[in-house]
Order: sequence, then structure tokens, then C-alpha cells
Amino acid sequence: MSPSVSVDTHLPPGWADGAMRDDITRAFTMTPKVLPPMWLYDDRGSELFDRITRLPEYYPTEAERSILAARSGEIARRTGATTVVELGSGTSDKTRTLLDAFRATGQLRRFVPFDVSEATLIEAADRLAKRYDGLEIKAVVGDFTRHLPHLPAGPDRLVAFLGGTIGNFYAEERRAFLGAVADSLESGEWLLLGIDLMKPVGRILDAYNDRAKVTDAFIKNVLAVVNAAFDADFDLECFDYVPFWDGREERVDMRLRTDEPQTTRLRALDLEVEFAAGEEIRVEISTKFRPERLAAELADVGLGVDQLWTDDRADFGLLLARKF
Ligand code: SAH
Ligand code: AVI
Repeated sequence: MSPSVSVDTHLPPGWADGAMRDDITRAFTMTPKVLPPMWLYDDRGSELFDRITRLPEYYPTEAERSILAARSGEIARRTGATTVVELGSGTSDKTRTLLDAFRATGQLRRFVPFDVSEATLIEAADRLAKRYDGLEIKAVVGDFTRHLPHLPAGPDRLVAFLGGTIGNFYAEERRAFLGAVADSLESGEWLLLGIDLMKPVGRILDAYNDRAKVTDAFIKNVLAVVNAAFDADFDLECFDYVPFWDGREERVDMRLRTDEPQTTRLRALDLEVEFAAGEEIRVEISTKFRPERLAAELADVGLGVDQLWTDDRADFGLLLARKF
């Protein structure tokens, strides 16, 4: 690891194992069965997500990249931030555009990528250390729904949450998350939020039902993650990936369905899970936003929208908000 990279070790040893054990036990003993999407991102899951970002049907990544290319200089100047924190940073690929702009103004002192996927995080941090000589990179391995108090203190931080990952929360979790982000900021500090916007449903569904079936493999991989972690015997062939559009909630709902009744053993949890014929596991949702509604949610937690930029097709939005 490069000397300018440090990895945060405040988290208790084994927290991921404990949290996963609790989350997975809860998920498979509740009705309906709902998995937290955080566990999609083991090494293979992160790699499959990276492939999704390069699929022709998956428009969000390129749309957000184009907004960042057009607006990063303005974001650097408007915020005057000296620390950029990135939640759910993954490969931090698009973030380079933002960091380049912050470097060009000479203001950037520290970058804090924060992700649950340790290997992807460290690899990304190392790559950035080579690109930005002298930049302090403080990587944090953690769960952004639980560990925001571990963020390095301000002042002058910009917290970026890119990619539309905010859409992967259920409404009540989103409220809690935005509240926790607001609580972790000092007055005058900034949030940069990538949001996938409402648009004709056909294009949205195509993005989650690609012809190459990479999304199918990404969603099913969560069963392989559970098999490996808990000595379980999910047969991936017995589950079908079923994405559908929930028009009331304006979100894609990604589920796994078994046509046959079956019993699965999670030996390391001493748990037997029954599936009825046609039963589904809810693996992930991806909400699409109307900016005015989200602005109201942000205002509720003390964040005021300063700017909203979109790409040429208004597919994706980048929203800059400030703590009151
Ligand atoms: N920001 C990147 C990656 C988005 S994929 C982009 O815009 O392309 C979502 C990322 O969030 C993954 O890297 C995943 O490991 C991470 N992630 C998901 N749930 C998380 C959680 N609860 N805590 C921390 N990271 C999480
Ligand atoms: C990470 N997140 C924004 C992706 C999305 O579009 O909701 C995850 C994803 N799931 C399937 N395809 C992409």
C-alpha cells in the first residue's frame, strides 16, 4: 500500500462477520424475505457491478460522468471544500474527474473513500495515491448506514454519494441515512448527491434487465455470498432473476424467485429456510427520483439544495446541498 494511504481501523474487529450474521439471519426468518443490498458486494459482486457500469443499457454511469465532466470545476469553486469524502466509493472511477478539478484549484488536502468492500476500496485508494502525489488518502472500511460517526472531522468537507446509490434504500432507510449524513456535517459543509431521475419506464427496466445478463448474475451472486459465508446450499439454478417496475413507489424491484418449494440449510447459522413454490427473495430496489420531492426530504433533515445539474437527456441529476 502506498505511504499516503491509511485505512481506518476504528471499527471493532470482526464487525462485518457479526453484522452479516445478524442481517442474514433476520433476512431469512422474516416474511417476505428481504436482503440488505450491502451483501451484494463481495469481490465478485463488485466486479460484476463494474461490468454493469459498462453495459450499453445501463445509462446512469455515463450520464453522471458527463455531469461531473461539465460541473466539477464549479463544484470545487462553489464549495471551497478541502476534504472530499466519498460514500460507497467502489472503484472511485468517476470521482477522478471531481478530484482533478479540486486539485486544479489547489484546495484539495484529503480524500476519504468509504466502502464496505475492502479489497475494492484499497485497490482504488492505491490507484489514486499514484495519480495524486501528496494527497492524504484516508480510506474507511465500513457500513454507511452504521458508521458515519467514524468519518474524519471537518471543517470544509464535501460528502459525495454518487452513482444513484441513494436509490437503493427503502424510503424509511433513506430518511435515516440522510439524517445521519446531515448530523455528521457541520453547518456550511456540503453533500453532493447523484440521483437517477424518473423517465419512461422502458429505458429504466432495460438498464436492469440487460441482454448480456450481467445484472442477473450480480443479483444471484448474493446467494453465492451466503453459501460461502455460512456454509449454505443455495442452488443458484433454482432461482430466477425477476426485475419489475413498481409504479406506485417509482422504483425497480429486483427479486429472486423459486418455482419449486425447497429447503435450504445455512449450516454455520444453524438455520433451515423454507421456500414455498413461487416465493421470492427481495434483493434490491432502485428508486428513481423527482428532484422536488427529494429536495423536501433533504430540507427535513437540515440540508438545503444549492444546485441541481442534469445531463443533456435529463436522465441523471447531480444535486449539491448544504447543511443549514
Ligand atoms: N459510487 C460508485 C459505486 C456504486 S456501487 C459508482 O458511482 O459507480 C455501490 C457501492 O456502495 C459499492 O462499492 C458497495 O460496496 C458500496 N456499498 C453498498 N452498501 C454499502 C454500505 N451499507 N456501506 C458502505 N458501502 C456500501
Ligand atoms: C449501486 N446502485 C446505484 C445500482 C443501481 O443502479 O441501483 C446497483 C445496481 N443493481 C443492479 N444494477 C445496478
